[in-house]
Amino acid sequence: MPKMTFIERNGQAKEVEAPLGLSVLEVAHKHGVDIEGACEGSLACSTCHVIVDPAWFPKLSKPTEDEEDMLDLAFGLEKTSRLGCQIVISEALDGLVVKLPSSVRNASK
Ligand code: FES
Repeated sequence: MPKMTFIERNGQAKEVEAPLGLSVLEVAHKHGVDIEGACEGSLACSTCHVIVDPAWFPKLSKPTEDEEDMLDLAFGLEKTSRLGCQIVISEALDGLVVKLPSSVRNASK
């Protein structure tokens, strides 16, 4: 099974199993990684914002316009920012590394 690594807000790396077909958000939830995902993947929030390791960024499929629009609302946006619910684990992403942003805009506040 593919694996991926989350760099948590305290800088600690957490390597977890990442089943094919799950989104990075779903993988995070499965392993208790603190990514909110308020809209559960329907592109209506930016709380699933993650910063993709620059080495991995080019391997991801391009974000849709809707994803880019939502990303514009995320705090701490970086060049390799993506929405975690839009990255789907495939064999090609075995080893993916993403970092949690230091803060998120909570949809409910
Ligand atoms: S969970 Fe809301 S956009 Fe990803």
